[in-house]
Amino acid sequence: MTRTRVLACMLALTVALSIASVAPAENAPSATMKIAPETVADYVHAVIEADRVFYTLHVVERLQRDGVVTASENWRIAKTLPLPAQFLKESGELAAITGAKIQYRLIGLWPINPQNAAATEFEKKGLESVRTHPERPYTGVVTVDGHPYFHAIYADRAFSQACIGCHNAHPRSPKQDFRINDVLGGVEIGFPLEP
Ligand code: HEC
Repeated sequence: MTRTRVLACMLALTVALSIASVAPAENAPSATMKIAPETVADYVHAVIEADRVFYTLHVVERLQRDGVVTASENWRIAKTLPLPAQFLKESGELAAITGAKIQYRLIGLWPINPQNAAATEFEKKGLESVRTHPERPYTGVVTVDGHPYFHAIYADRAFSQACIGCHNAHPRSPKQDFRINDVLGGVEIGFPLEP
């Protein structure tokens, strides 16, 4: 065998070996790597909260303070900004129709909108849990039509004066003495535990 042919053979072998070692690695994440659903929920929650806090402080409160535009419930027809709760609701509805199988919504302990009250036993227990232990989410597996879904409820606190100002003054609010940092309800996140 000439030196060139030996080199060519070695090169072919190296390429074949590297293809062989790349191929399983490409499949590896779904086949071998696992991530806890609690961690996935934490990731999603971090993104939802970051967007919400930014929207509340740097869009709604800043523009209201500067007299540019206000936020109100009837924002579609009044040419105002959506309320922070509506921002989350609208984005949750958009996310649900992308087909990504992720759901999230705001639920309240003393809801202004009765649709945001706890609707299931899991949500009732979850709201009670985050009211007494706001530092940790309430999590569990909920079965719907025989399919398992992971759900997590995170405490939703009144982090700014605007939250309690509006909720305390709202005519449909069942509670009017919220204080800053109180838990108003929860952010519920849900996704399937199977592909
Ligand atoms: C300008 C008024 C206003 C402000 C500011 C406001 N909210 Fe609300 N919030 C509402 C209204 C109105 C609803 C009901 C929206 C709907 O129809 O789903 C609501 C809904 C909610 C809900 C769901 C339960 C319920 O009451 O229906 C939570 C939890 C909540 N808000 C928390 C907050 C927090 C935390 C803040 C501050 C970041 C905040 N809100 C700021 C008016 C306000």
